[in-house]
Amino acid sequence: SLPSRVRLIDVGPRDGLQNEKQPVASSDKIALVHKLQEAGLAEIEVTSYVSPKWVPQMADNHAVMQGMQRQVGVRYSVLVPNLKGWEAAVQDRPDEIVVFGAASEAFSQRNINCSIAESIERFAPVVQAALAAGVAVRGAMSCTVGCPYEGDIAPERVAYLAGLMKGIGVQRVDVADTIGVGTPLKVQRAIEAVLRHYDIDHVSGHFHDTYGQALSNTLAALQMGVWNFQSSVAGLGGCPYAKGATGNVATEDVVYLLHGLGVETGIDLDKLVDAGAFISGVLGKRPQSRVAVAILNK
Ligand code: HMG
Ligand code: MG
Repeated sequence: SLPSRVRLIDVGPRDGLQNEKQPVASSDKIALVHKLQEAGLAEIEVTSYVSPKWVPQMADNHAVMQGMQRQVGVRYSVLVPNLKGWEAAVQDRPDEIVVFGAASEAFSQRNINCSIAESIERFAPVVQAALAAGVAVRGAMSCTVGCPYEGDIAPERVAYLAGLMKGIGVQRVDVADTIGVGTPLKVQRAIEAVLRHYDIDHVSGHFHDTYGQALSNTLAALQMGVWNFQSSVAGLGGCPYAKGATGNVATEDVVYLLHGLGVETGIDLDKLVDAGAFISGVLGKRPQSRVAVAILNK
């Protein structure tokens, strides 16, 4: 049987916007966070504390974190790659930080400029500092089924990374299909590999929709008992170090799927569609969510 309730982390403000070439005003990012929490999102990935030379769109991390009105009960998370990022992030009081590694060596090099082993060395003191400060720690694991540079990734390598994350104290992990090449069985194998180190309550699915498989992959993960997922309002996004990869699966589409299955999300779909329409308007794009387009055309 499927989980009765699912928790969605909307990563739109971070994963969704990080790859946009035109700077998005901090006020629009803040408005997006507000609309997402009004729609009932209990977790929002707001920004990242990375090099502004690498990812200019996230350079206004302080302004966004300081400018938003927090809602009680909502968890605000931010990406942190190293101690420098932690020192900047801690000033803005995130509820959770996300260290981000990859199951693929080549992707680790392109994304964070170091090997997998080096990345874990960099994360270890960050995780320690965060936990000591009472901040939760999540670990994103990129390329758990495929890599733009290495092709297929074996489940063994996913298990290896999950074990390293566990070893440094990361509390829960995201199984990310960064370039959206996964299909249900491959995604299930990657999750099984992670379950050697983390229990199901501490594993989340992070599926990009490049090949149109993200909803199927979501259902495949649900069938294993996964009940935490990341998605991006309006299907925004793409990773700067994964050419051609589309955004995460659209939150609207996941919510429609879940509600259709009788799974609770706490999310108001109409308000969520409004949030997606808002940010799509800011970007001068159409929402990439099929559900949003269908509802807006009704
Ligand atoms: P590096 O060049 O190896 O770092 O970058 P460094 O320590 O040698 O420092 C070089 C310069 O960066 C220095 O500045 C540092 O001060 C600065 P300079 O002296 O040249 O002026 N620097 C920083 N600035 C701000 N914040 C920091 C920071 N650290 C160093 N934290 C680094 C290493 C990780 C910083 C770099 O490679 C980087 O920023 N990469 C960007 C990674 C990124 O944001 N990728 C996208 C997010 S991951 C993703 O989207 C995948 C995910 O969604 C899951 C999935 O779908 O797979 C999570
Ligand atoms: Mg991603």
